[in-house]
Amino acid sequence: MAFSELIAERFSERHFAPNPVEPEKIEAIMEAGRLAPTARNLQPQRILVVQSPEGLEKIDRASNCRFGAPCVFVLAYDMNVASHNPDVVDFGIIDISIVGTHMMLQAQELGVHSCWVGLIDPPELRRQFHIPRNLRIVSIMPMGYPGPESHPAHLHEESQPLNALFFKEQYPDATE
Ligand SMILES: Cc1cc2nc3c(=O)[nH]c(=O)nc-3n(C[C@H](O)[C@H](O)[C@H](O)COP(=O)(O)O)c2cc1C
Repeated sequence: MAFSELIAERFSERHFAPNPVEPEKIEAIMEAGRLAPTARNLQPQRILVVQSPEGLEKIDRASNCRFGAPCVFVLAYDMNVASHNPDVVDFGIIDISIVGTHMMLQAQELGVHSCWVGLIDPPELRRQFHIPRNLRIVSIMPMGYPGPESHPAHLHEESQPLNALFFKEQYPDATE
């Protein structure tokens, strides 16, 4: 499938089927997260893969947004490893966001749907999984096959036109 088709067909899945994702697909999704670019190639991503019923229950204590997915990735990075530039946004957050995007798109190519979830309780996740303090928890990403109710939410359709998002040479309200 062409990349342009892949990104056009993806939407945030909020109705997962319970059947598990095959181990080789999980492996391919992890490999996509491994190959992502990171600042100074420091690779600070430290990602928890949760598939057991007990683990998924723990996820449910920290978020209402698992949507029945049989697999959840907890996206975190090691603050002691990530590159820091005080003048720019934290590179660790950029790194883990690119990693998550790689994983999401690799999953989509394999027919595995996903949702980026920021509505989480990081202290609860830390408690449930004994996550050390040097790991900053950024998001969770439920993944799995679409269930019978699967459909894009209305927000998916609300894409802005190109000229609201991209500007030639200068922003419209820029002053000399
Ligand atoms: C940083 C981030 C946080 C998000 N958090 C949530 C969330 O907590 N719960 C949820 O259902 N969707 C969440 N989403 C999904 C967005 O709502 C969704 O991507 C957006 O509405 C566009 O829809 P689409 O992904 O179907 O194209 C999040 C997406 C991003 C990028």
